[in-house]
Amino acid sequence: MWAVKPQTFRQAALAVAPHTRQALHLSVAAGIRSSSIATWLGSERIVRAMPNTPALIGQGISGLYARASVTASDKTKIEQVMATTGQSLWLDAEDQLDAVTALSGSGPAYVFYFMEAMTTAGTEMGLSREQAHQLTLATFAGASSLAQSTGETPQTLRQRVTSKGGTTFAAISSMEDNDVRALFIDALYAARLRAKELGDEFGAA
Ligand SMILES: NC(=O)c1ccc[n+]([C@@H]2O[C@H](COP(=O)([O-])OP(=O)(O)OC[C@H]3O[C@@H](n4cnc5c(N)ncnc54)[C@H](OP(=O)(O)O)[C@@H]3O)[C@@H](O)[C@H]2O)c1
Repeated sequence: MWAVKPQTFRQAALAVAPHTRQALHLSVAAGIRSSSIATWLGSERIVRAMPNTPALIGQGISGLYARASVTASDKTKIEQVMATTGQSLWLDAEDQLDAVTALSGSGPAYVFYFMEAMTTAGTEMGLSREQAHQLTLATFAGASSLAQSTGETPQTLRQRVTSKGGTTFAAISSMEDNDVRALFIDALYAARLRAKELGDEFGAA
């Protein structure tokens, strides 16, 4: 299991390579491509995973990519290891891992960012910090559970509580007028670009 920083991967891999030629390798490093890892380790049995921090409480989700030489039984072993951290899904193309990095890998931080903003707004509007925090946490947990248990799309769920001229309508209109959606999508592209750059900067020979 490779969980070193992308910056130190090459150095760590070169030191370990002579002892691990027969091993099945699993890397969680952001950006570093399996071709680089294969070169450094002199082994083709390499799987990359992009997990996220809810793994700490068994509620993570990981994207997985295996090089062609990884067997079905190797994949089963990887699934068993990853199951301890939550859900996982296999990807067909390695560059999809950069999208996973941008979406779910860095995603918890986006949620925390929105939580911070909602707590700040609540506090400014006269709630105590504790009250605003409690309301924010429960809102994220409740909305996520609702989306999961009903199986409805987020769009449908949102539209259902956005009656024209109402309070939610005012908030969503304000966000749409200010291009929040487009700017948020831009942020994910920035994360994906950074994942690609890490591969270029710290990968290769
Ligand atoms: N945090 C996330 O949510 C997340 C999500 C997806 C992927 N990742 C990836 O996970 C990896 C680890 O991230 P992190 O935030 O957990 O970093 P971290 O806390 O700095 O952990 C890096 C670990 O690597 C060890 N290490 C460094 N150089 C080594 C070497 N030459 N030989 C052996 N061990 C060495 C460090 O040991 P010492 O403490 O002794 O230096 C440390 O335990 C990164 O590649 C990151 O891209 C993280």
